[in-house]
Amino acid sequence: MTPENASIKSRALCLMAPVIPVLVVNDAAHAVPLARALVAGGLPVLEVTLRTAAALDVIREMATVAGGIVGAGTLLTPKDVEDAKAAGALFGVSPGATDLILDACEANDLPLLPGVATASEAMRLLERGYTVQKFFPAEANGGAPALKAIGSPIPQVSFCPTGGVTLTNANDYLSLSNTLCVGGSWVAPKDKVLSGDWDGITALAAQASQLPR
Ligand code: 3PG
Repeated sequence: MTPENASIKSRALCLMAPVIPVLVVNDAAHAVPLARALVAGGLPVLEVTLRTAAALDVIREMATVAGGIVGAGTLLTPKDVEDAKAAGALFGVSPGATDLILDACEANDLPLLPGVATASEAMRLLERGYTVQKFFPAEANGGAPALKAIGSPIPQVSFCPTGGVTLTNANDYLSLSNTLCVGGSWVAPKDKVLSGDWDGITALAAQASQLPR
């Protein structure tokens, strides 16, 4: 997949809902009810981080949930890309962007939302054809004012800011012309996942899905 086609697919995914839940799931038994709860709340695009031993099983399970579009986050190596693709991930997300990761995603036909933190990184990815990027870690990098400032000289790139984004500050990003959606873990808090409070998670997702853009 070319970077241009990856960007077209990433843009479409980012436009499906204002928030992409960032999920750290330790128990594959939670995968289906969690995905159902988020989809029911209006958040169909789900990022499962490859940070737990169960993550690939979680992707496999979530991929069976109707209405969900499951991707893999925390892609760090070409093997992560291959494993994610084999598990059924429909897109990938990485905290940064290296040639190895970009090459692997292009070779494996996995649309990638590659992470950047600076104008130079955004420019380098733009040179390669990636016009949809993740701004990470968003709050620590200056938050919405920083992303807005990057948008002035580089309006060709659209972003999904992630990292420190919450219900409280999401609007600061979503109101920017260069922001398509935000990523965040607040819609699936650990305590609610562990206690199986799926209705509570649906309520958080419903709230997030109504954020204006
Ligand atoms: C992460 O790295 O876990 C994501 O950026 C999500 O960050 P958050 O927990 O601050 O939403």
